[in-house]
Amino acid sequence: MLAKPDNLIIVIFGASGDLTNRKLIPALFELYKQELMPENFAIVGTARSQLSQKDFHSRLKNGVSNPDIVAKTEEFLEHVYYLQLDPGVLNGYHELKSELSILAEKHKSRGNYIFYLSTPPSVYGIIAENLALAGLSAEDNQGWKRIIIEKPFGIDYSSAKSLNNHLLKFFNERQLYRIDHYLGKETVQNLLVTRFSNGIFEPLWNRNFIHHVEITAAESIGVEDRGSYYDHSGALRDMIQNHLLQVAALVAMEPPSSMDDWAIRNETLKVFQSLRHFPVNELDKYVIRGQYTKSHIKGKLAKGYREESNVDPESRTETFAAIKFYIDNWRWGDVPFYIRTGKRLPTRVSEVVIHFKSTPHRLFVENQEFCNTGNQLVIRIQPDEGILLKFGMKVPGTGFNVKNVNMDFRYKDLGNGRLPDAYERLLLDCMQGDATLYARGDAVDAAWNFVQPILDYWKNHPEAPLFGYPAGSWGPDVADDFIEGKNINWRYPCKNLADDGVFCEL
Ligand code: BG6
Repeated sequence: MLAKPDNLIIVIFGASGDLTNRKLIPALFELYKQELMPENFAIVGTARSQLSQKDFHSRLKNGVSNPDIVAKTEEFLEHVYYLQLDPGVLNGYHELKSELSILAEKHKSRGNYIFYLSTPPSVYGIIAENLALAGLSAEDNQGWKRIIIEKPFGIDYSSAKSLNNHLLKFFNERQLYRIDHYLGKETVQNLLVTRFSNGIFEPLWNRNFIHHVEITAAESIGVEDRGSYYDHSGALRDMIQNHLLQVAALVAMEPPSSMDDWAIRNETLKVFQSLRHFPVNELDKYVIRGQYTKSHIKGKLAKGYREESNVDPESRTETFAAIKFYIDNWRWGDVPFYIRTGKRLPTRVSEVVIHFKSTPHRLFVENQEFCNTGNQLVIRIQPDEGILLKFGMKVPGTGFNVKNVNMDFRYKDLGNGRLPDAYERLLLDCMQGDATLYARGDAVDAAWNFVQPILDYWKNHPEAPLFGYPAGSWGPDVADDFIEGKNINWRYPCKNLADDGVFCEL
């Protein structure tokens, strides 16, 4: 049983935004219900909007109210305060500091603070600077100070690097918690346990036995109301540079020397440093980008990306991206890794598929289906979280007919309740001072450095292929030819749902 975190105050910047009532407050409330919050604590929301404490509480109530536990909700909200603050104006931070010392006295939190930056990224730097100028960043015997930074962390290599450098003027690396909610997912953490607590997988986990690795994060939703953000981001920045490369690092890393946060993140960094640079003259062979177009999904009209609100009607932003890359080290040699992600695909599924090599001599060639797929270990991140091992079995009866069968583990069969939301785990870890599941600055830089040639190429060659795919399909059809090897394809966990629409180059 984990010890409770020290008493503390959590200050949320940008608290009038959606993330606070959708994710942060519900996660903190859940921890509170499970008695995982500190003995005493305060949560202070700050934002530019003028709100009374009562207004703020009523905004949050959706995420925390539950008719069965009204008293608990009220008790929790007694710890929640609001203070109007313009993040760009230093004076407000002096006021914040004096309010915080009153609350620190009341909640016996000494000088322990988490500052959660849930604002637009353009003000991350100034918040860190103003906190420091107001004397709220230095750690002394008055307690610890930690700062959680939401994504996006930079929009390219140089902006991420300068943000890192700027933050490091005011906070040291051990105080910085760069959030990547994928790392908070149980099933992503389970990659470490699957690999390093079982004797059976690790001996096979290398170029001698693995043919290729596939990582998919498919979403059935489109850009919804986030067009103005997404149109300047695109799938590569939004999903691959951060979440999916972090997942790839957990699949590919060497065993860490211990479960210490520094040791694990050293291994992540080594993977990123070993990523083979893309050949800039042949990028189209390594990267595919696509954009969803209008279609009907189960008879219902689905908009194309360019018709979404706040999206440029001539946008060339990718809503689908697939990359192929190699990790130049002894373990992986020439094993290709494929990552694909997209919006408006037929279903929501995130999974890692380890495709093992076939047997050196094929005795049972008559079964093409099995021969083509070989053994696969499917690690389902979401939904229907679990692990599936696919292998060949003899079909009862005459001859030696081989059939692909599944050995299937589902988290829900454990029967001990819900999987915690990523934010619960990540917030609790930060309170405990454990940064294992947060991205370290050097790794963020290295991941941006890896994708930067693609961003440059698309920027400098707007005419580079952008493939339209009907909303509800599995992305551009050209992505099928992308995977090397005879008869090898992506895993399609469900059927194409687009009734119509055309695959075309936009
Ligand atoms: C976010 C992206 O980081 O992750 C979104 O900005 C995306 O565009 C989301 O939808 C996906 O997260 P999850 O947990 O639903 O897979």
